[in-house]
Amino acid sequence: MSNRTFTMIKPDAFEKGYTGAILEKIEKAGFRIVSMKKTKLSAEKAGEFYAIHKERPFYGELVEFMSSGPIVAAILEKGNAVEDFRTLIGATNPANAAEGTIRKLYAESVGKNAIHGSDSDANAAIEGSFFFSGMEQW
Ligand code: RTP
Ligand code: MG
Repeated sequence: MSNRTFTMIKPDAFEKGYTGAILEKIEKAGFRIVSMKKTKLSAEKAGEFYAIHKERPFYGELVEFMSSGPIVAAILEKGNAVEDFRTLIGATNPANAAEGTIRKLYAESVGKNAIHGSDSDANAAIEGSFFFSGMEQW
């Protein structure tokens, strides 16, 4: 799975109409879209997706935000996908994100930060199968 990662365009970026611009940046950076869908997470599903952060003070806010509107979920393919995609999206807090990164361009705050990227090969596989099953991935 080291050539695949998983992403979500978060509700803030979707709502502002940045989906097309973000996908263009992703494709221009050399990622191939393997699977993609627009969907909306229930609070329960968002809580499950971010269960790893359950004990963090921002968990409630994160779950509420991630279930507040539509998202676009996608599996992406490229050599060194996880690391290269984290570089492309930039730091969690857009104030610290490098110039030209997706979060620098499109995120408004550490909470509403436009896009998700998996942080490891193992999590990419888990997160991808959270949204896509079997044949759909190919
Ligand atoms: P993500 O998982 O969404 O790609 O973001 P990340 O790895 O850069 O950051 P992570 O530590 O995994 O945090 C997950 C998401 O929680 C929200 N957050 N809010 N208010 C806060 O201090 C805070 N810290 C994190 C962000 O939406 C972050 O992307
Ligand atoms: Mg993370």
